[in-house]
Amino acid sequence: MRIVLVGPPGAGKGTQAAYLAKNLGIPHISTGDLFRANMSQGTPLGQQAKEYMSAGQLVPDSVTIGMAEDRMEQPDAEGGFLLDGFPRNIGQAQALDDYLQRKGLSLDAVLDLEVPEDEVVKRIAGRRICRNDSSHVYHEVYNKPKTAGVCDQCGGELYQREDDSEETVRKRLDVYHTETEPIIDYFKAQDLVITIPAMGPVDEVTRRSMAALEVTEDDGDAA
Ligand code: AP5
Repeated sequence: MRIVLVGPPGAGKGTQAAYLAKNLGIPHISTGDLFRANMSQGTPLGQQAKEYMSAGQLVPDSVTIGMAEDRMEQPDAEGGFLLDGFPRNIGQAQALDDYLQRKGLSLDAVLDLEVPEDEVVKRIAGRRICRNDSSHVYHEVYNKPKTAGVCDQCGGELYQREDDSEETVRKRLDVYHTETEPIIDYFKAQDLVITIPAMGPVDEVTRRSMAALEVTEDDGDAA
């Protein structure tokens, strides 16, 4: 399966992507995680991305599209993938369509995670991420680690993302409304969008998403 997850910052895309990718047996490709990995390794791409991410702006398409395509070219993505945070504007959506067309492939669905804005702000304020692996995501209230400040999965230190400050979150929400929301209509025109109410417990949202994709956990290799 080839799936895109869309939704405002803090909607739970990364949290859901981790479970869905595991259930579906496909890699979770997060452009935000790819940028953060480059930043922590101090690569030129990471240095370039840092200034935009710290300001809550989109990293330019000239950098992002090539990075996403390189990741989709990896052997583990041959049977499908779950994109989280890409595409994020109309230019990227068109680039994804072009890429898939060149490969003779297509998307199966675009899951739009719907969460009210005041909930998104609460989710981001309490979010803590693992230093070893930014796909290990917790929340101080909703999804606590067993030991405060320590990742359950690998023992790594938990920290708050620099772009989760209140001011930057406001900017990221603005950018979401102006740049990213239009891709929902873009994909609606292709009849690909499924809206998922994303309030409630994490496993409940995962079940809704799996049901919307018409797969059960036993269909793990439905990719
Ligand atoms: P990115 O890393 O993609 O961030 P984002 O889209 O802003 O989304 P978040 O990671 O903030 O939230 P999420 O929806 O994944 O929520 P999460 O699962 O963590 O992008 C960061 C930056 O990178 C961008 O601003 C941009 O600069 C750059 N970038 C990335 N991709 C780009 C692109 N394609 N083009 C250009 N620039 C790009 O959940 C949030 C919290 O809520 C967690 O604490 C979690 O535990 C909790 N939670 C989750 N689900 C639930 C639930 N059901 N109930 C209660 N709590 C929950």
